[in-house]
Amino acid sequence: MDKEVVWFIRQSVTYFLLGTLLGVIFLFFPDAASQDRISLHVHMNLVGWMSMMIFGVGYHILPRFSGRPIFSRKMMTVQFWLASAGMFGMTAGWLIRGFAVPGGNGILLVFGTLMYVSIILFVYNMLRTVKGA
Ligand code: HEM
Ligand code: HEM
Repeated sequence: MDKEVVWFIRQSVTYFLLGTLLGVIFLFFPDAASQDRISLHVHMNLVGWMSMMIFGVGYHILPRFSGRPIFSRKMMTVQFWLASAGMFGMTAGWLIRGFAVPGGNGILLVFGTLMYVSIILFVYNMLRTVKGA
């Protein structure tokens, strides 16, 4: 397995543990479930857990399913770092907003954009990998 794949899986299950823990905390302390903290829970689970897992599994499986090598390994490495930084920053941004500390919006803007750039790279790399398969 490529090391990026292993690290996507490690990050993914870590966000799963933390994101669902936050959900359980909401059940015990319903007043803690403010809009920003729900957004934190939503994105830790849907981007941190689900999307990161799909990035990792996609990079491993799609080249094998299509019988073609990955289009660009370098793009995968860049995408890995952008997605990792993006998700970390989005987590920090919603956490900061969730505790009403100033600065959360700017952090979300920067790291959300990084995450989106990583998504574009992933989509392009996967489309080129399966092209003509
Ligand atoms: C132990 C597992 C989980 C627990 C206990 C839990 C609990 C909760 C709670 C209490 C809320 C807030 C509801 C509210 O007050 O309006 C919530 C919202 C939400 N959760 Fe979870 N959750 C869990 C796992 C997940 C997972 C794995 C995902 C996605 C893959 C997810 C997606 C969502 C979404 C999208 C919302 C927002 C729904 C909305 O906008 O109304 N949750 N969850
Ligand atoms: C570049 C990646 C993403 C960014 C920057 C982003 C940003 C946002 C923002 C700013 C909101 C409005 C809520 C708020 O202001 O607190 C939101 C809501 C939401 N997003 Fe995302 N999102 C991203 C990816 C995703 C993905 C991949 C999913 C699902 C697979 C998703 C599911 C949701 C859901 C269910 C809500 C509504 C629930 C809530 O209030 O948080 N997002 N997102």
